[in-house]
Amino acid sequence: MVDLQAVLDSIYKELTPRIGEGRIADYIPELAKIDPNQFGMAVVTVDGRVYTAGDAAVPFSIQSISKVFMLTLALGKVGEGLWKRVGREPSGSAFNSIVQLEHEHGIPRNPFINAGAIAVTDVVMAGHAPREAIGELLRFVRYLADDESITIDDKVARSETQTGYRNFALASFMRAYKNIDHPVEHVLGVYFHQCALSMSCEQLARAGLFLAARGSNPMTGHSVVSPKRARRINALMLTCGHYDGSGDFAYHVGLPGKSGVGGGIFAVAPGIASIAAWSPGLNKVGNSQLGAVALEMLAARTGWSVF
Ligand code: DON
Repeated sequence: MVDLQAVLDSIYKELTPRIGEGRIADYIPELAKIDPNQFGMAVVTVDGRVYTAGDAAVPFSIQSISKVFMLTLALGKVGEGLWKRVGREPSGSAFNSIVQLEHEHGIPRNPFINAGAIAVTDVVMAGHAPREAIGELLRFVRYLADDESITIDDKVARSETQTGYRNFALASFMRAYKNIDHPVEHVLGVYFHQCALSMSCEQLARAGLFLAARGSNPMTGHSVVSPKRARRINALMLTCGHYDGSGDFAYHVGLPGKSGVGGGIFAVAPGIASIAAWSPGLNKVGNSQLGAVALEMLAARTGWSVF
């Protein structure tokens, strides 16, 4: 086994001169305020060891990474019936694109583009008031990470509520096709709060460990999903987790992963470890520039690519 702490230290050292690269997401005003000069990384292995580098303990807005947790909840609720509401194919389009929805009868391509994630949130809301659905997700993530200190940043949620016109368009469009059951403001209220989950690299890697360990968290003993479901969620992350950058991420990193516009990337080395990298500057498709480079270095130095 490679010396993981030495690998993380070397990546951190080599990337330090590049911290600040990329462009911060500024379409959500509250996210535009973040200091770009931050970089962190955490690896949690299936045998329960934790390795960190840089700003691994600093909470950040996980944004679209939350879609993995909401997808897990939705599959737990309705099982494979979920796929009547959303597809499982890469979109090849931007995360917030509306173009495919009209041709495809309001059924989004996959659960990770915004339209797909909004439909997934609508599924989780069935039988719940919006506030309860937010509470359910927060409890789930705290349970996964075994950490009650995880919170939702209300300022970020409010900021996106005031400016998320594209998401209102996507949700309204899907509601017209009857693929959204709840009032658009309610669904987006939940969606914006899930995106505003605030977590550090270490918390994120702990929360996602079940996906690296056949559906159970070896640190807490909690059984979260079946091995088959964990495999399938990983398959979706590999093919769709980075939107129109998914092919490139698979090519360079070779691990299932999910990005967020807060600059986080969560990745899974199946059977080995869960990983989180964070740096706020984004590349042109909206994924963390340095986060992706760091994961490419980690995969190369550990041989963890799934290919
Ligand atoms: O809906 C949005 O636009 C954001 N709350 C989340 C987008 C996102 O994180 C895309 N990821 N790279």
